[in-house]
Amino acid sequence: MAPPTPEPHLFVVFGATGDLMQRKLLPVLYRLQARGRWPPGSVILGVARHLMSEPDFRAQALRSLTEEKVGDAGTVGAFCGATLFYQSVPEESGSSFAALRARIEELERVHGLGGNRIFYLALPTDAVGPTLTGLGEAGLSSGPGWTRVVIEKPFGHDLASAQVLNRLAHRYFSEKQIFRIDHYLGKETVQNLLVFRFANMFIESLWNRERIDHVTITVAESLGLEGRARYYEKEGALRDMIQNHVTQILTLIAMEPPATRDEDSIRNEKVKVLQSIVRFAPGDVVRGQYTAGTEEGKKAVGYREEPGVDPQSDTETYVALRLKIANWRWQDVPFFVRTGKHLPIKASRVMLTFKAPPVTFFQTAQEYNSNPDRILILIQPDEGFEFAFEVKVPGREMRVQTHRMKFHYGDVFGELPDGYETLLIDVMLGDPTLFVRADEVEESWRLYDPILTSPPPLTFYPAGTWGPAEAQKLALEWGQRWYYE
Ligand code: BG6
Repeated sequence: MAPPTPEPHLFVVFGATGDLMQRKLLPVLYRLQARGRWPPGSVILGVARHLMSEPDFRAQALRSLTEEKVGDAGTVGAFCGATLFYQSVPEESGSSFAALRARIEELERVHGLGGNRIFYLALPTDAVGPTLTGLGEAGLSSGPGWTRVVIEKPFGHDLASAQVLNRLAHRYFSEKQIFRIDHYLGKETVQNLLVFRFANMFIESLWNRERIDHVTITVAESLGLEGRARYYEKEGALRDMIQNHVTQILTLIAMEPPATRDEDSIRNEKVKVLQSIVRFAPGDVVRGQYTAGTEEGKKAVGYREEPGVDPQSDTETYVALRLKIANWRWQDVPFFVRTGKHLPIKASRVMLTFKAPPVTFFQTAQEYNSNPDRILILIQPDEGFEFAFEVKVPGREMRVQTHRMKFHYGDVFGELPDGYETLLIDVMLGDPTLFVRADEVEESWRLYDPILTSPPPLTFYPAGTWGPAEAQKLALEWGQRWYYE
């Protein structure tokens, strides 16, 4: 069956001169268009504060697309010339938004677009509220066709600000129009967690406190700050990664089977997981910051030496958490979660470790308990699943050795689509299943708010290592350790 094609529309991006648009959205939109997945005739209106001419905006976009190597110069140039427009909105004033509205209506008239609009807010958190107000007050929250608004993470800065933002958004837009985006939900392997768990009877029958000893979730990045000090200094790893991407993985791992595949059934189950997580005690959280070290053979400066970072900065670049989920499936099963920048590798992985057999009479290379059976979910890179289990080493002696059974997406399906590609198509089709609902985002902040209000003291780790020693203690105190596989 051919995939559904969205209706033609105007794609308006706020923050159009910024990093996200230039490095991510533009290449994705270009690729969708090149593959015929973006409705012909649709155009992009870039919006930013800069006073910039349309030719300059197109030239900037051309440079970005060339750097990303998305296609040959002729095709990329033609895309920029025919599809990209620019409007500066120097401040969030009524007159700027009135001018924006006039421009939108003119583009729709000239391109025969029928009034379908997407407003993509690729903006810092504190600019989101004023932009929503500007759109609403200019009468842009509804139009002659459908209108949808996409809001980047982090949604708010804590629970109170997320609640304020939700109220403000709902003043002008219905929940159905709001798409809170988290690009991890667009990743094939993250979505496949539902299939892996609920389409395979043998997996689901093991996925509980009777069989699973503990779960670890690691989202490791080898890169450091990459020139994003202005954003990162305000957010830190808890707001940048844990509250959204990592929590999404956690809820999909822990949720109950939804009644149906519709948007609300799945999101209801995710919310229930968040509501069942036991509130954190002070010793359950480790915050770390990288110091100077070596990453992939190259010297890396410490976080406080990065350009634009306060030399006394208290911002964390690493977080490790331990938690429990108080429900029938997971009661007493420890979950260990960690993320950090400048760790030795880039890898997002989940590991479910099985309980050891009650007794064993086999001779193992290592002590049996240090080698339990495991399910390893490789979210990226090298996406796939592995089962680690014991086999007999051939020979007279009864010796046991760990073996792995592997499924890797690349071997079977080739290259996977980018998460943003999947999610942008969903916005264009109006499918909110893979977006974060208002109550979900608030539940997630409710969980982390106590840590934000009284953060544990910062600890340190050299760039290129697996985080602060305190994170080891956090797992050891609950009788476990982190695996580096
Ligand atoms: C972004 C964060 O949302 O996700 C970045 O702001 C992080 O700090 C990035 O590097 C990680 O995404 P991915 O898809 O490369 O794992």
